[in-house]
Amino acid sequence: MRQFLGFICFAIALSANTRTPLSLPYDGRPCYEPANTPSAELLGLCRPSFLIIGAGKSGTSSLYSYLQRHPMVLPARSKQTHFWRYDYSGPGSVPGYYGNFPNATQLGSGGRVTGEASPGYLPSSESASRTGEHLKGVRIIVLVRDPVERAYSSYKYNYVNAILGDVRARGVRSRRRRREREAKVGIDGHMEAINAELEEVDKRRLVTFEEFVDAEMDYIRKCMQGRGGEREGVMERCFEGRDGEDPSEQWKSIPKTLVDERGVRIDRIFDTNGNHLVRSMLARGMYSSQVDVWRRHHREENVHVMCTSDLDVREMGADIVGEKIDEVAAFIGLEKFDFEPAVGAIGVLNHGSKPGYERATAWDEYWKDDVDPNLRAKIVSFFKELEVWTGWNEYSALCGWSAA
Ligand SMILES: *[C@@H]1O[C@H](CO)[C@@H](O)[C@H](O)[C@H]1NC(C)=O
Repeated sequence: MRQFLGFICFAIALSANTRTPLSLPYDGRPCYEPANTPSAELLGLCRPSFLIIGAGKSGTSSLYSYLQRHPMVLPARSKQTHFWRYDYSGPGSVPGYYGNFPNATQLGSGGRVTGEASPGYLPSSESASRTGEHLKGVRIIVLVRDPVERAYSSYKYNYVNAILGDVRARGVRSRRRRREREAKVGIDGHMEAINAELEEVDKRRLVTFEEFVDAEMDYIRKCMQGRGGEREGVMERCFEGRDGEDPSEQWKSIPKTLVDERGVRIDRIFDTNGNHLVRSMLARGMYSSQVDVWRRHHREENVHVMCTSDLDVREMGADIVGEKIDEVAAFIGLEKFDFEPAVGAIGVLNHGSKPGYERATAWDEYWKDDVDPNLRAKIVSFFKELEVWTGWNEYSALCGWSAA
């Protein structure tokens, strides 16, 4: 019996330690050398071996920065280029894109890799087909976050924070008000007063999360109607004003003004520069349709889905998070690496190097209230209703998202 138990323990230990990395993309030669370059202009340039394609607000920056700790990973000049979505204009534009990565001299021939993280790729069918054509064998990494939390995070980051940032900048730039008040309370007092005032006024002016959610659910139902299981290009068609579709139509049910407690009409603020993101707070959490497009243009085994909750050090502990990141490293084709110290040092989610990112994190802290349970239930039932697009059942089972 003891021997038998011993054998079981040995077998378990063995299987836990079994880590078979995939072979590196491009046969371990991501750079164009004289022997393999299809054209002279590509010579000395290197392809990314992995792309973290989304979802937005799901920890892509964190994962990217963790992976950089692996000794065989070199950073791109810019963490996110969104090249394949916005800047690709035929094969001639591709060498410029490779310029974002270390070149052949820098990467060497010892199996080092580089990659980027552009969360706008996931909903973009064009990005899927273009990368499928130009980066054959590249490893695709998708982070999926509870879509209700993802949507709320997007509301705060892409709408609330963007709006308040604009308004605050205008307030600070109002010279006359600044001089008047500074004379009375000094510069610090003036800034404090501005912030307090703006937060008060602008919170009342904001469109609520629920108003956006209701409008988007109606819109998605309409846009998906009659499309059967169609996936390719659906996100672009529904949310990016293609085919002559008017983006503001989606919000026509939301009153453009409201009346404050003194009976004064105040105009609400709708314009943000991330308009297409604000429009698709829920849609970008409909993972099934988006991931399927990527699976079609890349081989199934080259697409890796990871749950955002597996990056949460507070819930999982740094050791487990470290192992989960090492699974990603194995998927890219890299040797085993202990990510635990890096995870412990970098710490929380929402770590990022994008300008303005720190401000969003501050708002995350400021706005501590969670999504109202009734609103959550409404969104979850909407996701179940549209299972064919959302894959709610599949992904909630994979990642343990609560159904209520
Ligand atoms: C790579 O970049 C370095 C630094 O910019 C440069 O010195 C080197 O010549 C480049 N190598 C190739 C192969 O282009």
